[in-house]
Amino acid sequence: MTALLESFTPGLPEKALTAADAPARRVWRHARVATLAGASGWGLIERGAIVTENARIAWVGDEADLPAQGNAAVEELDLDGALLTPGLVDAHTHLVYGGHRAHEFEMRLQGASYEEIARAGGGIRSTVAATRAAGEDALFASASARLRTLREGGVTTVEIKSGYGLSFEDEARCLRVARRLGTTGVSVRTTSLAAHALPPEFEGRADDYIAAVCEWLPRWHAQGLVDAVDAFCERIAFGTAQVERVFAVAKSLGLPVKLHAEQLSDSGGTELAARFDALSCDHLEYLSDAGIAAMRAAGTVAMLLPGAFHFLRETKLPPVAALREAGVPMAVSTDHNPGTSPTLSLPLMIHLACVDFRLTPEEAVRGATVHAARALGLADRGTLAAGRRADFALWSLEHPRELAYWFGHPACRGTVVGAAPKDLAP
Ligand code: NIG
Ligand code: FE
Repeated sequence: MTALLESFTPGLPEKALTAADAPARRVWRHARVATLAGASGWGLIERGAIVTENARIAWVGDEADLPAQGNAAVEELDLDGALLTPGLVDAHTHLVYGGHRAHEFEMRLQGASYEEIARAGGGIRSTVAATRAAGEDALFASASARLRTLREGGVTTVEIKSGYGLSFEDEARCLRVARRLGTTGVSVRTTSLAAHALPPEFEGRADDYIAAVCEWLPRWHAQGLVDAVDAFCERIAFGTAQVERVFAVAKSLGLPVKLHAEQLSDSGGTELAARFDALSCDHLEYLSDAGIAAMRAAGTVAMLLPGAFHFLRETKLPPVAALREAGVPMAVSTDHNPGTSPTLSLPLMIHLACVDFRLTPEEAVRGATVHAARALGLADRGTLAAGRRADFALWSLEHPRELAYWFGHPACRGTVVGAAPKDLAP
């Protein structure tokens, strides 16, 4: 049996095992497994084992009940008592961009608001300028370093939005970089967020810009660059009528939609998004009761982003108790971006979701696994059960509630993506 946690150490080149160098079947023994597979509870198996067949889970249960493996070539891996959870899913990031906005952070600490900075031409637009000036390889290099940090925090699936190019070619470049990041050991879903802000060349012509986005979307889609479509519905960005035009094109292409909604004000974006069966509505600090009812009826996930809440020193809380009461699934993600949430730790977001938004540790961990997967329309991950993808995170923890308890230092020992170990550390 291979002592797995000794055979993959940090700093070594990534070892992505393939069908060519490994048996198709693996038995992962000696783990405390939190499956999250039921409708509630951790699904904790104290002395657990998992059997994987190629990239999928074939069996999960108590090691004492492990089925006989017959004569098939099987690799046995000893997980040394680590806690094993579903790989974390970061379902809302803006990972590809140039530069940073530390100077605006200082301005905000001096009292300027996010909206004031945006209206004065800073904010998203300053990142657009830096992104347009960066070449594709430079964008890939900076984003892949960020992605590696996310992965070191247990993330095995990440959604990556465009939205800092805001022209046909600049957006395409960012989406190509996102696709390329999907070859580096994390599963990637791309989202077009061309309707993020008005680029300077369209100043005063927001409807013309939306018309351009509606023309560009089918072309990005034809290039295989887009898995979903997002927009920023806000008084400093686009109104519901403009977002509706973009969503209509997404629908005609068969692409799911999601929305940055009710982040700084109640703009009614949630009701619009629900009419388009949105996968998720994101931020939601200013969400109304009518918005909650619309999300509930549409089965839309409430994507909570405590990093942006914290970083903007927001005081209005998203209506978590009402969402819970309505049975709207709540997801938690990093919203990594240079303007409102420059964090690369999803476990830290799990902690903040509990302390600031009053989620229970179990809700927050489900929010970063099963509900985040749902927010991406992915039914094949987020829990550990036969048939699901073999995406795991391994932790130096005794109980999954500790994911919410410790903060600011990673306990992740490594990840497994599609049954291939990534940088597992002792
Ligand atoms: O999710 N709200 C809009 N988009 C980002 C922030 C973008 C930026 O400031 O660069 C967000 O908070
Ligand atoms: Fe965002």
